[in-house]
Amino acid sequence: MAKRKTDLGTLYKGSPGQWSWIAHRVTGVAIILFLFAHVVDTAVVGWGPDAYNRVVAVYHNWFVRVLELGLVAAVLYHAINGVKIMVFDFWPGSTRYMKQLSIASTGLFLVAMIPITWIMGRDILNLSLGWNL
Ligand code: HEM
Repeated sequence: MAKRKTDLGTLYKGSPGQWSWIAHRVTGVAIILFLFAHVVDTAVVGWGPDAYNRVVAVYHNWFVRVLELGLVAAVLYHAINGVKIMVFDFWPGSTRYMKQLSIASTGLFLVAMIPITWIMGRDILNLSLGWNL
């Protein structure tokens, strides 16, 4: 059966603009949830250096480092996509290039993630597998 298409792409499969809208919401909420946790862990300093050091020691755990890598990815995606949204806000005519701009901003995000994943991933492998990369 022939695929039904809308102006924005194949029906029900969304478009780059639609997927980036969802990703922007998900990353925005993820970042703010981390911010709440971070306010709490930083506030522990009020109980003195020992209490604070015990709490922040959790950031030495390799699995928490994986979550940290996810956090960096979320912030980076949200920031780059946020600038794209601002371009649409200031120059409404640019929405004609929504698909191209969404692909370009996602591409920029992926390219930026390559060195970041290497730098942070190296630490994760060293901590979890005892390697010395
Ligand atoms: C790094 C620089 C950032 C930029 C350029 C940026 C940009 C934006 C823009 C333009 C929007 C509006 C989206 C729309 O109109 O649909 C937005 C939404 C939002 N941002 Fe950010 N933001 C940034 C950082 C942050 C941070 C640090 C947080 C969390 C602490 C955050 C949380 C959110 C949330 C929760 C939304 C609402 C999402 C939605 O309703 O779809 N943003 N951001």
